[in-house]
Amino acid sequence: MIHNLICFLGVDHKVGTTMISQSTAELISFHYPNLKILFIATNERESTEYIREAPISIDAMKFHIDNKMIVGADFLKTCTHKGDFYMMSGISNELEARYYYPDTVRYFLEEIAPEFDIILADCGSELDSGVAIGALSTSEDIFLVSTQQESAIKRFEKNKALMDELGIKIETCIINKYYEHDPYGLNYLVNRLKIEKENIWKVASSEYYRQAEIYYKTLLEYKNEVYIQDISQVANDILHNKGFPLINRQRKSRWKNFI
Ligand SMILES: Nc1ncnc2c1ncn2[C@@H]1O[C@H](COP(=O)(O)OP(=O)(O)OP(=O)(O)O)[C@@H](O)[C@H]1O
Ligand SMILES: [Mg+2]
Repeated sequence: MIHNLICFLGVDHKVGTTMISQSTAELISFHYPNLKILFIATNERESTEYIREAPISIDAMKFHIDNKMIVGADFLKTCTHKGDFYMMSGISNELEARYYYPDTVRYFLEEIAPEFDIILADCGSELDSGVAIGALSTSEDIFLVSTQQESAIKRFEKNKALMDELGIKIETCIINKYYEHDPYGLNYLVNRLKIEKENIWKVASSEYYRQAEIYYKTLLEYKNEVYIQDISQVANDILHNKGFPLINRQRKSRWKNFI
């Protein structure tokens, strides 16, 4: 198991897995610029919807991954970074996705993990993805990302047995695009998802989602205090579990983009 690897797994496409994982990575790095953070997309898409200048993609490492030629220190030099915030996008050539295998991806992550304080991986939402399974099967901390939509929850229920079979243990969930007055409230979701209430985080719905896509920025950018507060809670859950000090939003609350 890779102790500093945090995975985000969507119950379905478009629930906001990329948005939430990137926002959390950016917020942690913003408050703790000296922590070495890697935000990596371990899924079958590039997942650079909210990054203006696309970083280096995992495709560039494929030869080295397959031939077990990864050297942590060299990876740091190859990987795109702004200060100590490192980024690597997912599979750029989607037709090649089937040629990534869980065991080699696991090897790759094990080799690079010691170089970082925290790695946040956007694992997408496809359970037949070798690159996603490689990450998920080696992480002790998986955040399931869902919305309050019936179709999303239904897909999770359907895939739960497969996740168990693959050894993907889900104990924590983020309900994204959360509406307070939705009939699918937290108590109802506890029952449907079978996740303890104290392990369910909600992230409020933001009206700026189209702008976020157009300008290639996360929703942190749109001075949406509730959204930033909700992401801080997810970030603090990670920081707490990994033994780092928590983000104190009173002290430094004005978000400023740095990537
Ligand atoms: N909290 C939120 N409030 C409103 N819109 C959101 C929120 N989070 C994400 N979105 C929007 O939802 C859409 C999908 O988000 P995102 O790209 O993160 O999804 P995804 O699950 O990674 O999708 P994919 O399956 O393509 O990887 C985007 O338009 C994004 O701006
Ligand atoms: Mg995505």
